[in-house]
Amino acid sequence: MSYLGSLLLVSCIVISFHTLKAQNSTSSKQLLQTAQSKIPDHSSAYIVHRGRINRKPLNIIDSCWRLKRHWSSNRQSLADCVVGFGHGSLGGRQGVIYIVTDQSDDPIDPKPGTLRFGVTRDVPLWIIFTRDMVINLKNELMINSYKTIDGRGVHVELAYGPCITIEDAKHVIIHGINIHDCKRGRPGYVKNAPNHHSYRRGCDGDGIKITNSSNVWIDHCYLSNSADGLIDAIHASKDITISNCRFTNHVKVMLLGHRDGYIADKVLRVTVAFNHFGPGLTERMPRLRYGYVHVANNYYEPWLLYAIGGSSNPTILSEANYFVASNDSTHKQVTKRELINGLGEAWQTWRWTSRRDAFRNGAYFIASGRRNGAPPYNRFQRFNVSDASHVPILTSDAGPLRCVINRRC
Ligand SMILES: *[C@@H]1O[C@H](CO)[C@@H](O)[C@H](O)[C@H]1NC(C)=O
Ligand SMILES: *[C@@H]1O[C@H](CO)[C@@H](O)[C@H](O)[C@H]1NC(C)=O
Ligand SMILES: *[C@@H]1O[C@H](CO)[C@@H](O)[C@H](O)[C@H]1NC(C)=O
Ligand SMILES: *[C@@H]1O[C@H](CO)[C@@H](O)[C@H](O)[C@H]1NC(C)=O
Repeated sequence: MSYLGSLLLVSCIVISFHTLKAQNSTSSKQLLQTAQSKIPDHSSAYIVHRGRINRKPLNIIDSCWRLKRHWSSNRQSLADCVVGFGHGSLGGRQGVIYIVTDQSDDPIDPKPGTLRFGVTRDVPLWIIFTRDMVINLKNELMINSYKTIDGRGVHVELAYGPCITIEDAKHVIIHGINIHDCKRGRPGYVKNAPNHHSYRRGCDGDGIKITNSSNVWIDHCYLSNSADGLIDAIHASKDITISNCRFTNHVKVMLLGHRDGYIADKVLRVTVAFNHFGPGLTERMPRLRYGYVHVANNYYEPWLLYAIGGSSNPTILSEANYFVASNDSTHKQVTKRELINGLGEAWQTWRWTSRRDAFRNGAYFIASGRRNGAPPYNRFQRFNVSDASHVPILTSDAGPLRCVINRRC
């Protein structure tokens, strides 16, 4: 991130393939040819700096908007950039901008100008922040349907209190915020709509909990060190993309599927792409039950126990990820099957496929079941997965970006 930031400060020229093609000079044509021969896939844009191709391409989601100088005057067009199962998540795309000016929080009677007031409205809203802020929520933040939280241009942290719950909702986008040190919630009422409160028993302390919800896109967030999972998607949630996020310092990173026996989670469909699973992570990147997960182009630093795991016959396609195992010879396996009593043998039919993955330092993936073909995407959700060797670059800006108004981000 800082690498790109400093490039921007010296006012580099960022040109996508598209604009390169539109220009008419031999040098740009040559640059285009060089770029294509260096990294021959069609899923990224390239940064050209003072006439030289920078070796840093952008992944397909980032190249959709980060090359636009005026990103801040059409923030809502970000919603068009999501690929994978979360494609079509509108967030507040059809609504007006709501500006958070007040970092205080009242879970029962939120003041206009606070984050909680915005996320509990019953109209679509694209929520942005007037300045940097650390928001210490007093109880879980219940996000209503058709909302975007967009931290571009400022530094926003949700920290040291309960964090986010997306429950019985659809079309939610969370982009560019830091979520860490999340705590358990308190029993009591919490506002979840303009004229409604929900009685809460006290949330577990997840970073983001997605329950009975659909069309959710989490992009460029940083998540770390919380009381429960960093991201959980449970209770028949579906059509979710988790992309460009950076995770550090946590045991149970990402749980997809509530519990063994909860067969409603068969509808779970999640894309996990271009994330950086950083230092200090133990397990569940992700851990899946019943549903389908496409894990593509993620960077895995050494994990303590395992990277990808599951139980209850989940389907996993691991595609062109970059797995770096630890030096501990007992934890080089990427995969882990959690077996329920008496079902010890059944895992051999679970469809876990590794395709084009890169394994470093002895990492290995144990596949099972019939080989998975392409993910069950429609033509809007489908995307070109890059070669695993490009993953370190494609994920190098994971986490919130430092965006400046009227500059390419
Ligand atoms: C492109 O450049 C060439 C040579 O400089 C010129 O002949 C041609 O007219 C230009 N094309 C356009 C569309 O500007
Ligand atoms: C995917 O790659 C193929 C060639 O490898 C290219 O023709 C196609 O346009 C690419 N699709 C997208 C969406 O980038
Ligand atoms: C799931 O959410 C929908 C609203 O989107 C609601 O009607 C339904 O009752 C919820 N289901 C459960 C089991 O809570
Ligand atoms: C593994 O060992 C090598 C060689 O001693 C060292 O360079 C590397 O940093 C070690 N990796 C980790 C994750 O400790």
